[in-house]
Amino acid sequence: MRSFLLLSVLLACSMAEEIETKLSPLQAVSKSVESFSTNFYKTVSKNEKGNLITSPLSAGVVLSMAAYGARENTEKQMRDVLKLPADDTLGRSGFQNLIDNLNSVKDVELRLANKIFPKKGLEIKPEFKALTADSFRSAEEQLDFAQSAESASIINAWCQNKTNNKIKDLIKPDDLNSDTAMVLVNAVYFKGQWKKKFDAKNTEERPFHIDHKTVKNVSTMYQSVNIIYGVLPDLKAKFVEIPYKGEEVSMIIVLPDEVNGLAELEQKLENLDINTLRQKGYPHDVELYLPKFKIESTIELNNVLTEMGMEEMFSDKANFSGIADVPLKVSKVLQKAFIEVNEEGAEAAAATEIIIADRIQIETEIAQVKVDRPFYFCIRRKVDGEADGTFVELFVGSIKDPSIQFN
Ligand SMILES: *[C@@H]1O[C@H](CO)[C@@H](O)[C@H](O)[C@H]1NC(C)=O
Ligand SMILES: *[C@@H]1O[C@H](CO)[C@@H](O)[C@H](O)[C@H]1NC(C)=O
Ligand SMILES: *[C@@H]1O[C@H](CO)[C@@H](O)[C@H](O)[C@H]1NC(C)=O
Repeated sequence: MRSFLLLSVLLACSMAEEIETKLSPLQAVSKSVESFSTNFYKTVSKNEKGNLITSPLSAGVVLSMAAYGARENTEKQMRDVLKLPADDTLGRSGFQNLIDNLNSVKDVELRLANKIFPKKGLEIKPEFKALTADSFRSAEEQLDFAQSAESASIINAWCQNKTNNKIKDLIKPDDLNSDTAMVLVNAVYFKGQWKKKFDAKNTEERPFHIDHKTVKNVSTMYQSVNIIYGVLPDLKAKFVEIPYKGEEVSMIIVLPDEVNGLAELEQKLENLDINTLRQKGYPHDVELYLPKFKIESTIELNNVLTEMGMEEMFSDKANFSGIADVPLKVSKVLQKAFIEVNEEGAEAAAATEIIIADRIQIETEIAQVKVDRPFYFCIRRKVDGEADGTFVELFVGSIKDPSIQFN
């Protein structure tokens, strides 16, 4: 009998080969994560018809942790899809740097937490324990999965704590049984305030075009603000970058020119290189209309990951002999994500006044950006001090109907 590994990913977002050797470990891993993210989101978004919020980063981190315990073809498939650096020393210190970097962001709350719950008595190899502790800052807690209700409640309590109570009930007792060998969980929590808050007095019901035929009034915020704005002709879209307090994290909104342009945009996301996006825009005075939204997505990622090429880890051929000397396979990869975007940027508002420094004005004309049709968004974090910079996307998603709060 095969034992199961259950990889869970949950997150909450309240608010609101050659080249390799030249990159720092952090840059190498950030590039891996980014490349995985794009393919991941493309695959997820094909199947999700409603509003969507997901964190490729979170999925990438927990899967990479498992990949380092995989062997033979299972390992090869995972490495290919995750685009892990060929050099393991580089990869491992890159993850360590990335996790520490994300956990040290200033002015917003950002936490990335990993935890391994092995079953009582499972002998995890010391090398794997060392890897997860050092590179992934991960702790271990043994559970008796035969006591499924109790185990689920311990895992869910941990998740809830790490996501500031935003993600509850990630795992159901039914997901666990005496065959469960291990549950790997990754949680991301983000809460940020906009650098410039929206004034609630300007929030009104304004029309949002769900499609060519349907218009709904939705609660829409407004502000006049100087932000990066640009046109993306090859994607038939425009974008704005709205910074959070501290400017280390920002939200990018990509608004298709056409009401029904989102699906096409989502299949061309490899043309949206977030590392160079800023160069396609410039600081601009923008009249920004942005709907408030609050969504939660629960996605079982087995089909997505299989489609991406990681099928062996789910099968009886799976080889995770780097984790333990018992036959192990992955039974489920779950992700639950939450986001709320409002005037503050975050749900729990702190009343801080923020003074905005004017950016250099290149154009005097004011752009009007009305986010009044289905759009794509991402929340990204700059992870190095370089001028061009290396970014990782913490969350990505799309809004098709802001009036629907949960999917
Ligand atoms: C798993 O991979 C290891 C390392 O290559 C190998 O020694 C072992 O025989 C493999 N296990 C199975 C069941 O194929
Ligand atoms: C999470 O647990 C820590 C330590 O027990 C506690 O200090 C903190 O308040 C908890 N956070 C939440 C959101 O429950
Ligand atoms: C939307 O709201 C405006 C007022 O803000 C109102 O005039 C209009 O009739 C509303 N449209 C719909 C479809 O409810």
